[in-house]
Amino acid sequence: MTIKAVVFDAYGTLYDIQSVAAVTEQAFPGYGEIITQIWRIKQLEYTWLRSLMRRYEDFSVVTRDSLAYTLRCLGLRYDDGAFERLIDKYQHLDLYPDAMVSLAAMKDRKLAILSNGSPDMLGALVRNSGLERVLDATISVDARKIFKPAPDAYALIESTLGVRPPDVLFISSNPWDACGAKAFGLNVAWIERVTPQAMAQACVDSDLVPPLTMFKAIRTQMDELGLEPDYRIHALSELPPLVAAQRS
Ligand code: LAC
Repeated sequence: MTIKAVVFDAYGTLYDIQSVAAVTEQAFPGYGEIITQIWRIKQLEYTWLRSLMRRYEDFSVVTRDSLAYTLRCLGLRYDDGAFERLIDKYQHLDLYPDAMVSLAAMKDRKLAILSNGSPDMLGALVRNSGLERVLDATISVDARKIFKPAPDAYALIESTLGVRPPDVLFISSNPWDACGAKAFGLNVAWIERVTPQAMAQACVDSDLVPPLTMFKAIRTQMDELGLEPDYRIHALSELPPLVAAQRS
């Protein structure tokens, strides 16, 4: 296989979306975990619903709408200040600890993000985290006004980087995204951060399944869509040797 470009999903793959729990818990003590999980579940649902309805609004709107839904459905009262503090965290998400060093080790290939995030959100995120120093491009689906996993969104990799799909390795921890990229014709490495064994243990360990376990069951396990990633890895740090073994 030839790999000329390594392209990453952003939210959940390079950046830890669970890191919003620090601010959700601070703003709404006792509700941090359930807010965090419903917010992300709804955020993704809204991308798919808006794409199907052909009613695209960018990811910053979707992120705000899904947070408003979450707080309303839990019956929580809030003021503008609290709302903005939660939204602001989306521009300061924690990088996974192995992200920077792993990307830096693959600088002999083109490195990019392809994300549902709006250009403004992604620009702030890569600046605030220092990742812009190692990336050749930060690609937002906003250019096509449709969200992943629509094929048009993945087509932006070739039109931006000039690299054909068979020469791209796409990395995502989001199973639906890994399937979408595979369906489009990219080579795909899926990051399986939560194993089925860990899932089974989490269910045994608690009488009531907590929101985080439910989220992991819904959004971290490989989907039944008849598509298989080319590689299953467990952390970003496994990528550099995998890429080094392929022609550039
Ligand atoms: C991304 C989200 C959806 O595209 O994970 O970055």
